[in-house]
Amino acid sequence: MRRKLVVGNWKMYGNLAWNKALLDAAVEGLRDYRNADYAICVPHPYLWQAQAILQGTNIAWGGQNMNQFEGGAFTGSVAPHMLVDFGCSYVIIGHSERRELCNESDPVVAAKFEAAVKVGMKPVFCIGESREEHEAGEAEEVVARQLDAVLTRVGAEGLAKGVLAYEPVWAIGTGRGASPHKAQSVHAFIRKRIASLDSGVAASIRILHGGSVRVANAAQLLSMPDIDGALVGNASLVADQFIAICRAAN
Ligand code: 13P
Repeated sequence: MRRKLVVGNWKMYGNLAWNKALLDAAVEGLRDYRNADYAICVPHPYLWQAQAILQGTNIAWGGQNMNQFEGGAFTGSVAPHMLVDFGCSYVIIGHSERRELCNESDPVVAAKFEAAVKVGMKPVFCIGESREEHEAGEAEEVVARQLDAVLTRVGAEGLAKGVLAYEPVWAIGTGRGASPHKAQSVHAFIRKRIASLDSGVAASIRILHGGSVRVANAAQLLSMPDIDGALVGNASLVADQFIAICRAAN
């Protein structure tokens, strides 16, 4: 039985006072809900604050990106061990916004995945097709390519050290997510592809769903057999909504 995991992705939102209110509310609201795992990925400057508030609670924290190298002349970048220094157990890797806006390629994403595992973090490895690819019926082809880039680099046993997140790009931030059945069919495809290499890893790896996961659709999505949790953007910025989605997973 795979334990459900809900990860909040704050993206580029927040400030000290607002973060504190949200983190305090999440701690309070989830204290007695111990049958699922939760994490919040905050902007890098606030990692110390997330650590200060969340350590010792049942909510983990993480970064939203990192550099694949251990150090070097990379102005503005953050190395994997720096996230570990602030207690991160997770880091989002290959989010579509970074693939699109920062030209992160499949090989770069694979290198980041490997680097995160090397320092003991769990990468939340994002895959998903764009609207054009979706409309052209290429969803499976695209997620297979993105998945294979990491599988080629670290193998199925390496993949098992992370978490997958299928986020159809056309569903992100629109309020119109994929229907549970449509989402389930791509999740099942992903799991089957992993099973062709290693059935044990396929059975145990968690595949989260992302893209307009809201209070209204969370329970239905989470009831699908191959959906093991959620990667939540917008709704993770509102305490009551994030808590409700986490409780649905619990
Ligand atoms: P929304 O939940 O706002 O659609 O964002 C999804 C996402 O990109 C999480 O990583």
